[in-house]
Amino acid sequence: MAKGSSKKNWLARQQKDPYVKQAQQSHYRSRAVYKLIEIDDKDHLLKQGQTIIDLGAAPGSWSQYVSEKIGNKGRLIAIDILPMEPVDNTLFIKGDFTEQSVYEQCLQAMDNTRADLVISDMAPNLSGIRAADQARSLYLAELSLDLAKCVLKQGGDMLVKVFEGEGIDRYRHDLKEHFGKVIVRKPKASRDDSREFYVLARAFRL
Ligand SMILES: C[S@@+](CC[C@H](N)C(=O)[O-])C[C@H]1O[C@@H](n2cnc3c(N)ncnc32)[C@H](O)[C@@H]1O
Repeated sequence: MAKGSSKKNWLARQQKDPYVKQAQQSHYRSRAVYKLIEIDDKDHLLKQGQTIIDLGAAPGSWSQYVSEKIGNKGRLIAIDILPMEPVDNTLFIKGDFTEQSVYEQCLQAMDNTRADLVISDMAPNLSGIRAADQARSLYLAELSLDLAKCVLKQGGDMLVKVFEGEGIDRYRHDLKEHFGKVIVRKPKASRDDSREFYVLARAFRL
């Protein structure tokens, strides 16, 4: 497909998308927030005073929503390769989460305390080569699990974006070794034609 025509299709889809309109009318920076809101409404993840790590946070709609829900007694650490406008009560770390130094900055920010929840909406830039894209996205999900194992409290939760494809069954199996319950969520705001879905792992076992 010609580049100009695919951009036109993207624009047309954005203009018709009710979640884009809703986000524009509210103060949220991205339609992605409605995925987290739907999951939170159903699963009651977020509570006042919690400590949360948001991976792949930019432009920041999940962080905005989390910050509102946890309030000023809560603590939010947000990480992204891209810059992000400030969000209330949020420590933002700009860097590539696959780099050891960024992972360590996050651990330093936690200062030996433990988190209630790790959320990851990270997605790699797609190359169009399906097997390579799947491997890169799974790697991000695996790193999110590594961090969760390091920082979560007993009973803590993790919500992570993944893509249907090779390696997903094994990943869900790995989650089951560390969490009491592993659930799959495909919120309405996640487009039907996208292979993306979310895995919610609950009741972390220290
Ligand atoms: C779908 S967007 C997240 C949207 C965000 N949840 C929101 O509500 O605004 C995915 C993000 O993951 C980030 N990302 C991808 N790979 C990353 C990595 N290795 N380290 C840090 N961030 C990464 C991208 O830069 C992008 O901002």
